[in-house]
Amino acid sequence: MNVLVIGAGGREYSIGMALRKDENVESLYFAPGNGATDELGVNLDISDFNKLADFCEANDVELTIVGPEAPLVEGIADLFEERGLKIFGPSAKAAQLEGSKIFMKNFLARHNVPTAKYIETDSIEEAYKFINTLEAPIVVKADGLCGGKGVIIAKNHNEAKKAVGDMLSGNAFGEAGTSIVVEEFLDGYELSVFAICDGEDYVVLPAAQDHKRLHNNDQGPNTGGMGAYAPTPLVNDEIYKKLDERVIVPTLKGMKEEGMPFKGVLFIGVMVVKGEPIILEYNVRFGDPECEELMPLLKSSALDLFYKGATNDLKNLKIEFHDKFAVGVVMASKDYPYKSSAPAEIIVDEIVHDEIFAQHAHISYAGVTRDKEDGKLYATGGRVLVCVGLGDTIEDAQKRAYMLVGQVHFAGKHCRTDIAYQVLNK
Ligand code: AMP
Ligand code: GLY
Repeated sequence: MNVLVIGAGGREYSIGMALRKDENVESLYFAPGNGATDELGVNLDISDFNKLADFCEANDVELTIVGPEAPLVEGIADLFEERGLKIFGPSAKAAQLEGSKIFMKNFLARHNVPTAKYIETDSIEEAYKFINTLEAPIVVKADGLCGGKGVIIAKNHNEAKKAVGDMLSGNAFGEAGTSIVVEEFLDGYELSVFAICDGEDYVVLPAAQDHKRLHNNDQGPNTGGMGAYAPTPLVNDEIYKKLDERVIVPTLKGMKEEGMPFKGVLFIGVMVVKGEPIILEYNVRFGDPECEELMPLLKSSALDLFYKGATNDLKNLKIEFHDKFAVGVVMASKDYPYKSSAPAEIIVDEIVHDEIFAQHAHISYAGVTRDKEDGKLYATGGRVLVCVGLGDTIEDAQKRAYMLVGQVHFAGKHCRTDIAYQVLNK
């Protein structure tokens, strides 16, 4: 089967790696892909959805998998389906679960899915009134897509009011902030849970933990994610059961009832507060860097998973995972997340002496470009690559991920040195 992966990150690279393990995958295409996905398949310089659909028709592409949220919110799945092409990802309507925080919060309320107490408003007075009823810290969120930056955790009431003013005036996030959500702060530990959905049925992948802050011990500014590990032992069967019963089942049922069955990856941002899973947010795609750890844990075919997800056939899926842990460490460019950095050549030492290490560690490339003349890879994005280690224990997986980090060189590289600390430094 010929397969197209939409996107350019480490997430899409890891999906490509997983697909390449299945011999049923013939031609693999990426649009646009990155400087390293050309090792796994063919990069296409096409972004127009109709032209991508033309390409799929002309090249017998039987399945398209969408990595990032933007094309979903813009309706790529609707267009492909209208043209009779199979695509794994939600419709534009269903993608509002991520595209609009207000839509998401109101949906959760309509279907009794546990979430933080909140109001949505475009009125400063109303926001101030609600803020006065809450204890600090207080969370203020812009409505639209802001690349993960639209959330302010205000330390006190005045800071919360200032954030409200900045957002509603349009100064902080432009249009995305003209309507806001103010909500109570949840104090607990955070999980990334992914359900692969086909509109009706679903399978849940092992829960992961991301590391959103730039520096060790969760200090510094928020980023897209500096590393992750899975499965996390912080989740037990009881929490999975509560997630099934209180979150995933009512969400899929509600989306179907409301005329927008959810197909694709439901990314559930969960805060576990005193043993109770409470929903922070939904995204409609894999997390990045969580995907880079989950894909190598998949023992059964990734093609089968995504194809059955796209064709409403998950009830016939037999999914299996390796009985291992994965730890992924993001290596970022010099000025990430503040500004872009000058391109820097990437050099990876050859692993010569240690077979076991070589088999249990790999790189998922993200913000990289291949130079047309010298053929070398250059760090050109913020999050450049993810070093992934696998092991029978989280310690082993972490050790291998950091051994690999030690073998990757580019000017200005930096990373957190404590990925998976939540379960190792207790
Ligand atoms: P979001 O974009 O809604 O996921 O928010 C980004 C990050 O802000 C989350 O991953 C949490 O770490 C934090 N956050 C968001 N909402 C809350 C909340 N109500 N209580 C505590 N932390 C939150
Ligand atoms: N790693 C979090 C995200 O992809 O939004």
